[in-house]
Amino acid sequence: MQFISNPPDAASLMTSARSFGNYDLPSALADLIDNSIKARARNIRITCLYQSGSPAIRVLDDGYGMSRSELHAAMRPASTNPAEERSPDDLGRFGWGLKSASFSQCKKLTVISSKDGVLSGAEWDLDEISNWKMGVLTDREVKGLASDELSTSAGTEIIWSKCDRLSEHGSLSAAEFNDLVVYARDRIALVYHRYLGGAVRGHSLKIFLNDQEIKGYDPFYSDHRATQQLETEEVRIEGKRVRIQPFILPHYSKVTLSEYDRLGGEEGFLKNQGFYVYRNHRLIINGTWFRLAKHGELSQLVRISVDIPNSLDSIWKITIDKGDAQLPAVLRNRLKGIVDGLKKRSSKVFRSKGGRLDRDESTVWQRHAKNGEIHYSINREHPLIAAFLSVDDEETRSAAKAVIEVIEQSFPVIAFSEDVNRRPLEIRQTETNPRAFRDQVETALPLMLHEVEGDFARLSDLLRHTEPYSSNWAAVEEILKEKGWTSARAR
Ligand SMILES: Nc1ncnc2c1ncn2[C@@H]1O[C@H](COP(=O)(O)OP(=O)(O)OP(=O)(O)O)[C@@H](O)[C@H]1O
Ligand SMILES: [Mg+2]
Repeated sequence: MQFISNPPDAASLMTSARSFGNYDLPSALADLIDNSIKARARNIRITCLYQSGSPAIRVLDDGYGMSRSELHAAMRPASTNPAEERSPDDLGRFGWGLKSASFSQCKKLTVISSKDGVLSGAEWDLDEISNWKMGVLTDREVKGLASDELSTSAGTEIIWSKCDRLSEHGSLSAAEFNDLVVYARDRIALVYHRYLGGAVRGHSLKIFLNDQEIKGYDPFYSDHRATQQLETEEVRIEGKRVRIQPFILPHYSKVTLSEYDRLGGEEGFLKNQGFYVYRNHRLIINGTWFRLAKHGELSQLVRISVDIPNSLDSIWKITIDKGDAQLPAVLRNRLKGIVDGLKKRSSKVFRSKGGRLDRDESTVWQRHAKNGEIHYSINREHPLIAAFLSVDDEETRSAAKAVIEVIEQSFPVIAFSEDVNRRPLEIRQTETNPRAFRDQVETALPLMLHEVEGDFARLSDLLRHTEPYSSNWAAVEEILKEKGWTSARAR
Protein backbone atom coordinates (compact mmCIF):
# COMPACT_ATOMS: atom_id res chain seq x y z
CA MET A 1 0.00 0.00 0.00
CA GLN A 2 1.04 3.49 -0.72
CA PHE A 3 0.08 6.49 1.40
CA ILE A 4 -0.77 9.91 0.11
CA SER A 5 -1.61 12.99 2.08
CA ASN A 6 -5.33 13.73 1.86
CA PRO A 7 -6.03 16.75 4.09
CA PRO A 8 -9.43 18.40 4.42
CA ASP A 9 -10.23 21.46 2.36
CA ALA A 10 -9.50 24.37 4.68
CA ALA A 11 -12.47 26.58 3.85
CA SER A 12 -14.95 23.68 3.92
CA LEU A 13 -13.69 22.26 7.20
CA MET A 14 -13.65 25.61 8.95
CA THR A 15 -17.09 26.46 7.63
CA SER A 16 -18.34 23.16 9.07
CA ALA A 17 -16.60 24.02 12.33
CA ARG A 18 -18.98 26.96 12.59
CA SER A 19 -21.67 24.45 13.46
CA PHE A 20 -19.68 22.40 15.97
CA GLY A 21 -21.48 22.53 19.26
CA ASN A 22 -24.61 24.46 19.94
CA TYR A 23 -23.26 27.88 20.79
CA ASP A 24 -25.02 31.09 21.51
CA LEU A 25 -23.20 34.31 22.41
CA PRO A 26 -22.91 33.56 26.14
CA SER A 27 -21.69 30.00 25.64
CA ALA A 28 -19.19 31.13 22.99
CA LEU A 29 -17.87 33.80 25.37
CA ALA A 30 -17.74 31.14 28.08
CA ASP A 31 -15.33 29.07 26.01
CA LEU A 32 -12.96 32.06 25.91
CA ILE A 33 -13.47 32.70 29.62
CA ASP A 34 -12.59 29.04 30.31
CA ASN A 35 -9.30 29.57 28.51
CA SER A 36 -8.59 32.74 30.45
CA ILE A 37 -9.32 30.99 33.74
CA LYS A 38 -6.96 28.19 32.74
CA ALA A 39 -4.33 30.88 32.04
CA ARG A 40 -4.89 32.08 35.66
CA ALA A 41 -6.40 35.42 34.67
CA ARG A 42 -7.70 37.53 37.56
CA ASN A 43 -9.49 40.06 35.40
CA ILE A 44 -11.36 39.46 32.17
CA ARG A 45 -12.67 42.43 30.26
CA ILE A 46 -15.31 41.80 27.63
CA THR A 47 -16.21 44.61 25.28
CA CYS A 48 -19.17 44.34 22.94
CA LEU A 49 -19.39 47.17 20.42
CA TYR A 50 -22.31 47.61 18.06
CA GLN A 51 -20.43 49.85 15.60
CA SER A 52 -23.48 50.77 13.50
CA GLY A 53 -24.37 47.20 12.72
CA SER A 54 -20.84 45.80 12.22
CA PRO A 55 -20.34 44.54 15.76
CA ALA A 56 -16.99 43.57 17.23
CA ILE A 57 -16.37 41.70 20.42
CA ARG A 58 -13.14 41.69 22.43
CA VAL A 59 -12.11 39.60 25.36
CA LEU A 60 -8.99 40.74 27.18
CA ASP A 61 -7.41 38.82 30.05
CA ASP A 62 -4.42 39.28 32.33
CA GLY A 63 -3.45 35.61 32.39
CA TYR A 64 -0.01 34.24 31.65
CA GLY A 65 -0.31 34.81 27.90
CA MET A 66 1.31 32.90 25.07
CA SER A 67 4.64 33.05 23.30
CA ARG A 68 4.63 33.31 19.50
CA SER A 69 4.94 29.56 19.01
CA GLU A 70 2.32 28.84 21.71
CA LEU A 71 -0.03 31.26 19.99
CA HIS A 72 0.44 29.58 16.64
CA ALA A 73 -0.20 26.18 18.20
CA ALA A 74 -3.30 27.53 19.95
CA MET A 75 -4.72 28.85 16.69
CA ARG A 76 -4.49 25.40 15.10
CA PRO A 77 -7.85 23.61 14.90
CA ALA A 78 -7.88 20.51 17.12
CA SER A 79 -4.76 21.78 18.87
CA THR A 80 -4.76 19.00 21.47
CA ASN A 81 -6.05 15.46 21.63
CA PRO A 82 -9.26 15.22 23.68
CA ALA A 83 -8.04 11.90 25.12
CA GLU A 84 -5.07 13.62 26.77
CA GLU A 85 -5.15 13.91 30.53
CA ARG A 86 -5.69 17.52 31.66
CA SER A 87 -4.57 19.20 34.83
CA PRO A 88 -7.47 19.13 37.31
CA ASP A 89 -8.11 22.88 36.99
CA ASP A 90 -8.18 22.91 33.18
CA LEU A 91 -11.58 23.80 31.78
CA GLY A 92 -10.59 22.73 28.24
CA ARG A 93 -10.83 19.33 26.58
CA PHE A 94 -10.93 19.32 22.79
CA GLY A 95 -8.36 21.79 21.50
CA TRP A 96 -11.18 23.42 19.57
CA GLY A 97 -12.90 25.87 21.91
CA LEU A 98 -11.15 29.05 20.88
CA LYS A 99 -11.80 28.33 17.22
CA SER A 100 -15.23 26.70 17.31
CA ALA A 101 -16.65 29.27 19.76
CA SER A 102 -15.28 32.18 17.76
CA PHE A 103 -16.44 30.94 14.35
CA SER A 104 -19.88 30.16 15.73
CA GLN A 105 -20.23 33.96 16.09
CA CYS A 106 -17.87 35.58 13.58
CA LYS A 107 -15.75 35.02 10.49
CA LYS A 108 -12.59 36.74 11.62
CA LEU A 109 -10.70 35.72 14.72
CA THR A 110 -7.67 37.74 15.79
CA VAL A 111 -5.65 36.73 18.84
CA ILE A 112 -2.97 38.90 20.38
CA SER A 113 -0.93 37.68 23.27
CA SER A 114 1.78 39.06 25.47
CA LYS A 115 4.27 36.94 27.34
CA ASP A 116 7.71 37.81 28.72
CA GLY A 117 7.44 41.25 27.18
CA VAL A 118 6.87 39.92 23.66
CA LEU A 119 3.64 40.72 21.84
CA SER A 120 2.47 38.47 19.02
CA GLY A 121 -0.66 38.26 16.95
CA ALA A 122 -2.32 35.80 14.58
CA GLU A 123 -5.56 35.76 12.63
CA TRP A 124 -7.90 33.41 10.86
CA ASP A 125 -10.29 34.94 8.36
CA LEU A 126 -12.75 32.43 6.93
CA ASP A 127 -12.96 34.46 3.74
CA GLU A 128 -9.25 33.97 3.17
CA ILE A 129 -8.41 30.60 4.54
CA SER A 130 -7.53 28.61 1.42
CA ASN A 131 -4.57 26.25 1.95
CA TRP A 132 -4.65 26.85 5.69
CA LYS A 133 -3.03 30.26 5.34
CA MET A 134 -3.08 31.91 8.75
CA GLY A 135 -2.34 35.61 9.09
CA VAL A 136 0.59 36.52 11.32
CA LEU A 137 0.43 40.14 12.43
CA THR A 138 3.47 42.41 12.12
CA ASP A 139 4.72 44.23 15.24
CA ARG A 140 3.10 47.40 13.98
CA GLU A 141 -0.21 45.73 13.31
CA VAL A 142 -0.17 44.14 16.75
CA LYS A 143 0.62 47.42 18.49
CA GLY A 144 -2.06 49.22 16.54
CA LEU A 145 -4.69 46.67 17.50
CA ALA A 146 -3.87 45.52 21.03
CA SER A 147 -5.33 47.14 24.13
CA ASP A 148 -2.83 49.21 26.13
CA GLU A 149 -2.68 46.70 28.99
CA LEU A 150 -0.88 44.16 26.82
CA SER A 151 2.09 46.42 26.21
CA THR A 152 2.85 46.55 29.92
CA SER A 153 1.85 43.12 31.24
CA ALA A 154 1.15 39.54 30.19
CA GLY A 155 -2.26 38.59 28.87
CA THR A 156 -4.28 37.66 25.85
CA GLU A 157 -6.83 39.50 23.77
CA ILE A 158 -9.32 37.84 21.46
CA ILE A 159 -11.03 39.98 18.83
CA TRP A 160 -14.06 38.83 16.89
CA SER A 161 -14.95 40.83 13.80
CA LYS A 162 -17.22 40.14 10.82
CA CYS A 163 -19.75 38.97 13.43
CA ASP A 164 -22.31 37.58 11.01
CA ARG A 165 -23.82 34.99 13.33
CA LEU A 166 -24.96 37.07 16.26
CA SER A 167 -28.43 37.06 14.87
CA GLU A 168 -30.26 34.21 13.20
CA HIS A 169 -31.75 36.45 10.56
CA GLY A 170 -28.58 38.25 9.43
CA SER A 171 -29.04 41.91 10.27
CA LEU A 172 -29.03 42.97 13.88
CA SER A 173 -30.59 46.11 15.30
CA ALA A 174 -28.97 48.08 18.11
CA ALA A 175 -31.81 47.03 20.43
CA GLU A 176 -31.37 43.34 19.57
CA PHE A 177 -27.65 43.64 20.12
CA ASN A 178 -28.28 45.26 23.49
CA ASP A 179 -30.64 42.45 24.51
CA LEU A 180 -28.02 39.90 23.52
CA VAL A 181 -25.40 41.61 25.64
CA VAL A 182 -27.72 41.73 28.65
CA TYR A 183 -28.53 38.06 28.17
CA ALA A 184 -24.82 37.23 27.96
CA ARG A 185 -24.18 39.15 31.16
CA ASP A 186 -26.87 37.22 33.05
CA ARG A 187 -25.67 33.85 31.79
CA ILE A 188 -22.05 34.61 32.68
CA ALA A 189 -23.17 35.72 36.15
CA LEU A 190 -24.75 32.28 36.58
CA VAL A 191 -22.19 30.06 34.84
CA TYR A 192 -19.20 31.49 36.75
CA HIS A 193 -20.94 32.44 39.98
CA ARG A 194 -18.60 30.34 42.09
CA TYR A 195 -15.53 32.05 40.64
CA LEU A 196 -17.12 35.48 40.84
CA GLY A 197 -18.32 34.91 44.37
CA GLY A 198 -14.83 33.94 45.52
CA ALA A 199 -15.86 30.35 46.23
CA VAL A 200 -13.09 28.76 44.17
CA ARG A 201 -10.06 28.46 46.39
CA GLY A 202 -6.98 30.22 45.07
CA HIS A 203 -8.77 31.73 42.13
CA SER A 204 -10.14 35.19 42.54
CA LEU A 205 -11.75 36.38 39.34
CA LYS A 206 -13.48 39.49 38.12
CA ILE A 207 -15.29 39.70 34.81
CA PHE A 208 -16.27 43.05 33.33
CA LEU A 209 -18.69 43.54 30.49
CA ASN A 210 -18.49 46.93 28.82
CA ASP A 211 -16.65 48.16 31.89
CA GLN A 212 -19.31 46.97 34.31
CA GLU A 213 -18.35 44.28 36.77
CA ILE A 214 -20.51 41.17 36.54
CA LYS A 215 -21.66 40.05 39.95
CA GLY A 216 -22.04 36.30 40.41
CA TYR A 217 -25.55 34.94 40.74
CA ASP A 218 -25.89 32.05 43.18
CA PRO A 219 -28.84 29.91 42.04
CA PHE A 220 -29.08 28.30 45.50
CA TYR A 221 -29.60 31.59 47.30
CA SER A 222 -27.30 30.02 49.86
CA ASP A 223 -26.94 33.24 51.84
CA HIS A 224 -30.70 33.47 52.36
CA ARG A 225 -31.67 32.54 55.90
CA ALA A 226 -34.57 30.41 54.72
CA THR A 227 -32.53 28.31 52.28
CA GLN A 228 -32.00 24.81 53.58
CA GLN A 229 -28.75 23.12 52.71
CA LEU A 230 -29.27 19.38 52.98
CA GLU A 231 -26.66 16.68 53.56
CA THR A 232 -23.93 16.38 50.94
CA GLU A 233 -23.49 13.00 49.29
CA GLU A 234 -20.44 11.70 47.54
CA VAL A 235 -20.35 9.08 44.83
CA ARG A 236 -17.15 7.53 43.51
CA ILE A 237 -16.96 6.81 39.81
CA GLU A 238 -13.75 5.16 38.64
CA GLY A 239 -12.21 6.34 41.88
CA LYS A 240 -13.13 9.97 41.13
CA ARG A 241 -15.39 11.97 43.41
CA VAL A 242 -18.78 13.32 42.35
CA ARG A 243 -20.32 15.58 45.00
CA ILE A 244 -24.07 16.07 45.30
CA GLN A 245 -25.65 18.77 47.43
CA PRO A 246 -29.38 19.44 47.51
CA PHE A 247 -30.78 22.81 48.55
CA ILE A 248 -34.37 23.65 49.35
CA LEU A 249 -35.04 27.21 48.37
CA PRO A 250 -37.37 29.55 50.16
CA HIS A 251 -40.69 30.16 48.50
CA TYR A 252 -40.20 32.68 45.73
CA SER A 253 -42.40 35.19 47.47
CA LYS A 254 -39.79 35.31 50.23
CA VAL A 255 -36.71 35.99 48.15
CA THR A 256 -35.58 39.03 46.31
CA LEU A 257 -35.07 37.35 42.99
CA SER A 258 -31.80 38.07 41.31
CA GLU A 259 -31.63 39.16 37.75
CA TYR A 260 -31.45 35.70 36.25
CA ASP A 261 -34.49 34.27 37.97
CA ARG A 262 -36.41 37.47 37.46
CA LEU A 263 -36.03 36.97 33.72
CA GLY A 264 -38.38 34.03 33.66
CA GLY A 265 -40.65 35.50 36.33
CA GLU A 266 -42.20 33.23 38.89
CA GLU A 267 -42.75 30.57 36.29
CA GLY A 268 -39.07 30.66 35.41
CA PHE A 269 -38.16 30.41 39.05
CA LEU A 270 -40.21 27.25 39.37
CA LYS A 271 -38.98 25.79 36.11
CA ASN A 272 -35.37 26.33 37.05
CA GLN A 273 -35.51 23.65 39.71
CA GLY A 274 -33.44 20.54 39.24
CA PHE A 275 -29.82 19.61 38.90
CA TYR A 276 -27.06 22.16 38.43
CA VAL A 277 -24.00 20.34 37.11
CA TYR A 278 -20.60 21.93 37.66
CA ARG A 279 -17.41 20.85 35.97
CA ASN A 280 -14.43 22.29 37.84
CA HIS A 281 -16.77 24.84 39.48
CA ARG A 282 -18.04 26.08 36.13
CA LEU A 283 -21.73 25.44 35.53
CA ILE A 284 -22.39 23.33 32.46
CA ILE A 285 -26.04 22.32 32.85
CA ASN A 286 -28.79 23.90 34.89
CA GLY A 287 -32.36 23.25 35.80
CA THR A 288 -32.80 19.77 34.40
CA TRP A 289 -34.13 16.72 36.22
CA PHE A 290 -32.53 14.30 33.73
CA ARG A 291 -36.03 12.87 33.52
CA LEU A 292 -35.87 11.68 37.13
CA ALA A 293 -38.72 13.97 38.06
CA LYS A 294 -41.19 16.13 36.21
CA HIS A 295 -41.04 19.88 36.49
CA GLY A 296 -43.30 20.96 39.29
CA GLU A 297 -43.58 17.43 40.69
CA LEU A 298 -41.70 18.20 43.88
CA SER A 299 -43.74 20.25 46.27
CA GLN A 300 -40.74 22.29 47.30
CA LEU A 301 -38.27 24.35 45.35
CA VAL A 302 -35.30 22.07 45.03
CA ARG A 303 -32.01 22.77 43.30
CA ILE A 304 -29.26 20.20 43.53
CA SER A 305 -25.63 20.92 42.75
CA VAL A 306 -23.59 18.11 41.23
CA ASP A 307 -19.85 18.57 41.01
CA ILE A 308 -17.88 16.57 38.48
CA PRO A 309 -14.12 16.59 37.83
CA ASN A 310 -12.78 17.00 34.28
CA SER A 311 -11.26 13.51 34.52
CA LEU A 312 -14.76 12.07 34.00
CA ASP A 313 -15.45 13.99 30.77
CA SER A 314 -15.65 10.91 28.59
CA ILE A 315 -18.20 9.24 30.88
CA TRP A 316 -20.37 12.35 30.94
CA LYS A 317 -19.93 12.78 27.17
CA ILE A 318 -19.12 16.48 27.53
CA THR A 319 -19.89 18.32 24.32
CA ILE A 320 -17.52 20.66 22.50
CA ASP A 321 -19.43 23.76 23.65
CA LYS A 322 -19.44 22.44 27.27
CA GLY A 323 -23.14 23.11 27.18
CA ASP A 324 -24.34 19.58 27.59
CA ALA A 325 -23.47 16.28 29.15
CA GLN A 326 -25.21 12.97 29.62
CA LEU A 327 -25.95 11.55 32.99
CA PRO A 328 -23.75 8.42 33.39
CA ALA A 329 -25.74 5.26 34.11
CA VAL A 330 -23.74 4.60 37.30
CA LEU A 331 -24.89 7.87 38.77
CA ARG A 332 -28.46 7.67 37.60
CA ASN A 333 -29.62 5.35 40.39
CA ARG A 334 -27.98 7.41 43.06
CA LEU A 335 -29.54 10.64 41.84
CA LYS A 336 -32.86 8.87 41.47
CA GLY A 337 -32.62 7.80 45.11
CA ILE A 338 -32.06 11.39 46.16
CA VAL A 339 -34.93 12.70 44.04
CA ASP A 340 -37.27 9.96 45.28
CA GLY A 341 -36.34 10.81 48.85
CA LEU A 342 -37.25 14.43 48.21
CA LYS A 343 -40.50 13.42 46.55
CA LYS A 344 -41.47 11.25 49.49
CA ARG A 345 -40.85 13.71 52.24
CA SER A 346 -44.21 13.32 53.85
CA SER A 347 -43.23 15.26 56.89
CA LYS A 348 -42.23 18.67 55.64
CA VAL A 349 -39.88 19.03 58.59
CA PHE A 350 -36.42 18.09 57.55
CA ARG A 351 -33.09 17.80 59.24
CA SER A 352 -30.69 20.15 57.58
CA LYS A 353 -26.92 20.33 57.68
CA GLY A 354 -26.64 22.14 60.98
CA GLY A 355 -28.94 19.65 62.71
CA ARG A 356 -31.62 22.32 62.84
CA LEU A 357 -35.19 21.32 62.17
CA ASP A 358 -36.20 23.83 59.60
CA ARG A 359 -39.44 25.62 59.30
CA ASP A 360 -41.50 25.18 56.28
CA GLU A 361 -43.80 28.00 55.40
CA SER A 362 -46.22 25.69 53.62
CA THR A 363 -47.47 23.96 56.81
CA VAL A 364 -49.57 25.36 59.61
CA TRP A 365 -47.88 23.49 62.45
CA GLN A 366 -44.15 23.57 62.97
CA ARG A 367 -42.07 21.24 65.03
CA HIS A 368 -38.99 22.57 66.76
CA ALA A 369 -36.30 20.47 68.41
CA LYS A 370 -33.72 22.30 70.45
CA ASN A 371 -31.54 21.38 73.43
CA GLY A 372 -33.29 18.04 73.76
CA GLU A 373 -36.76 19.63 73.86
CA ILE A 374 -39.49 19.41 71.28
CA HIS A 375 -42.31 21.84 70.90
CA TYR A 376 -44.95 22.64 68.33
CA SER A 377 -45.95 26.09 67.25
CA ILE A 378 -48.14 27.72 64.65
CA ASN A 379 -46.28 28.89 61.59
CA ARG A 380 -46.74 32.62 61.39
CA GLU A 381 -45.56 32.60 57.81
CA HIS A 382 -48.35 30.35 56.59
CA PRO A 383 -50.18 32.68 54.19
CA LEU A 384 -53.56 32.45 55.88
CA ILE A 385 -52.08 32.97 59.34
CA ALA A 386 -49.89 35.77 58.02
CA ALA A 387 -52.93 37.46 56.49
CA PHE A 388 -54.81 37.06 59.77
CA LEU A 389 -51.96 38.59 61.75
CA SER A 390 -51.57 41.56 59.46
CA VAL A 391 -55.11 42.90 59.33
CA ASP A 392 -55.23 46.68 59.28
CA ASP A 393 -57.11 47.22 62.52
CA GLU A 394 -54.64 47.19 65.43
CA GLU A 395 -57.07 45.84 67.99
CA THR A 396 -58.05 42.89 65.82
CA ARG A 397 -54.38 42.28 65.11
CA SER A 398 -53.53 42.04 68.81
CA ALA A 399 -56.49 39.77 69.35
CA ALA A 400 -55.35 37.57 66.45
CA LYS A 401 -51.90 37.30 68.02
CA ALA A 402 -53.43 36.30 71.38
CA VAL A 403 -55.64 33.69 69.70
CA ILE A 404 -52.69 32.09 67.96
CA GLU A 405 -50.72 32.01 71.19
CA VAL A 406 -53.50 30.48 73.21
CA ILE A 407 -54.03 27.74 70.62
CA GLU A 408 -50.33 27.02 70.64
CA GLN A 409 -50.00 26.95 74.40
CA SER A 410 -52.94 24.63 74.81
CA PHE A 411 -51.81 22.03 72.30
CA PRO A 412 -53.26 18.87 73.91
CA VAL A 413 -49.94 17.10 74.27
CA ILE A 414 -50.94 14.36 76.68
CA ALA A 415 -54.27 13.45 75.10
CA PHE A 416 -52.74 13.48 71.66
CA SER A 417 -49.77 11.31 72.54
CA GLU A 418 -52.05 8.81 74.28
CA ASP A 419 -54.22 8.61 71.19
CA VAL A 420 -51.19 8.21 68.94
CA ASN A 421 -50.02 5.32 71.11
CA ARG A 422 -53.34 3.57 71.63
CA ARG A 423 -55.43 4.17 68.52
CA PRO A 424 -53.39 5.92 65.88
CA LEU A 425 -55.65 4.78 63.04
CA GLU A 426 -58.69 6.45 64.53
CA ILE A 427 -57.21 9.95 64.52
CA ARG A 428 -59.00 12.00 61.87
CA GLN A 429 -57.72 15.49 62.23
CA THR A 430 -58.03 16.63 58.65
CA GLU A 431 -61.30 17.84 57.19
CA THR A 432 -62.96 15.09 55.18
CA ASN A 433 -66.27 16.76 54.50
CA PRO A 434 -65.94 18.36 51.04
CA ARG A 435 -68.64 20.95 51.75
CA ALA A 436 -66.94 22.14 54.92
CA PHE A 437 -63.56 22.23 53.20
CA ARG A 438 -65.06 24.28 50.43
CA ASP A 439 -66.57 26.79 52.82
CA GLN A 440 -63.29 27.15 54.61
CA VAL A 441 -61.38 27.72 51.36
CA GLU A 442 -63.92 30.24 50.14
CA THR A 443 -63.56 32.24 53.33
CA ALA A 444 -59.78 32.08 53.29
CA LEU A 445 -59.24 32.89 49.63
CA PRO A 446 -59.89 36.66 49.67
CA LEU A 447 -57.53 37.06 52.62
CA MET A 448 -54.77 35.23 50.81
CA LEU A 449 -55.43 37.06 47.57
CA HIS A 450 -54.82 40.24 49.52
CA GLU A 451 -51.49 38.79 50.74
CA VAL A 452 -50.33 38.31 47.13
CA GLU A 453 -51.50 41.75 46.10
CA GLY A 454 -54.33 40.51 43.93
CA ASP A 455 -52.14 38.46 41.64
CA PHE A 456 -54.06 35.31 40.59
CA ALA A 457 -51.03 33.51 39.23
CA ARG A 458 -49.20 33.97 42.51
CA LEU A 459 -52.23 32.97 44.50
CA SER A 460 -52.60 29.73 42.60
CA ASP A 461 -48.94 28.97 43.01
CA LEU A 462 -49.03 29.78 46.69
CA LEU A 463 -51.95 27.45 47.27
CA ARG A 464 -50.30 24.70 45.31
CA HIS A 465 -47.40 24.79 47.78
CA THR A 466 -49.36 25.30 50.96
CA GLU A 467 -51.19 22.85 53.20
CA PRO A 468 -54.03 21.94 53.37
CA TYR A 469 -54.61 23.27 49.84
CA SER A 470 -51.79 21.41 48.14
CA SER A 471 -53.07 18.00 49.20
CA ASN A 472 -56.60 18.91 48.06
CA TRP A 473 -55.46 20.65 44.92
CA ALA A 474 -58.17 19.39 42.59
CA ALA A 475 -60.91 20.84 44.79
CA VAL A 476 -59.06 24.13 45.26
CA GLU A 477 -58.44 24.48 41.55
CA GLU A 478 -62.14 23.96 40.87
CA ILE A 479 -63.04 26.75 43.26
CA LEU A 480 -60.50 29.07 41.63
CA LYS A 481 -61.94 28.27 38.22
CA GLU A 482 -65.49 28.91 39.34
CA LYS A 483 -64.46 32.29 40.68
CA GLY A 484 -62.59 33.01 37.47
CA TRP A 485 -59.48 33.58 39.59
CA THR A 486 -57.13 31.81 37.28
CA SER A 487 -55.48 34.43 35.18
CA ALA A 488 -54.62 38.12 34.89
CA ARG A 489 -54.36 40.50 37.76
CA ALA A 490 -57.25 41.38 40.05
CA ARG A 491 -58.35 44.97 39.99
N1 LIG B 1 -6.59 33.31 26.97
C1 LIG B 1 -5.61 32.42 26.83
N2 LIG B 1 -4.44 32.54 27.53
C2 LIG B 1 -3.45 31.64 27.39
N3 LIG B 1 -3.53 30.56 26.59
C3 LIG B 1 -4.64 30.38 25.87
C4 LIG B 1 -5.75 31.29 25.94
N4 LIG B 1 -6.71 30.87 25.09
C5 LIG B 1 -6.24 29.74 24.54
N5 LIG B 1 -5.02 29.43 24.99
C6 LIG B 1 -4.21 28.27 24.61
O1 LIG B 1 -4.75 27.78 23.43
C7 LIG B 1 -5.04 26.40 23.54
C8 LIG B 1 -6.21 26.07 22.64
O2 LIG B 1 -7.39 26.63 23.16
P1 LIG B 1 -8.79 26.00 22.76
O3 LIG B 1 -9.83 26.68 23.54
O4 LIG B 1 -8.91 26.01 21.31
O5 LIG B 1 -8.67 24.49 23.22
P2 LIG B 1 -8.63 23.90 24.69
O6 LIG B 1 -8.92 24.95 25.69
O7 LIG B 1 -7.31 23.22 24.83
O8 LIG B 1 -9.78 22.83 24.65
P3 LIG B 1 -11.38 23.10 24.42
O9 LIG B 1 -11.67 22.80 23.00
O10 LIG B 1 -12.05 22.15 25.29
O11 LIG B 1 -11.61 24.52 24.77
C9 LIG B 1 -5.29 26.19 25.02
O12 LIG B 1 -5.05 24.85 25.39
C10 LIG B 1 -4.28 27.15 25.64
O13 LIG B 1 -3.02 26.54 25.72
MG1 LIG C 1 -10.67 26.13 25.53
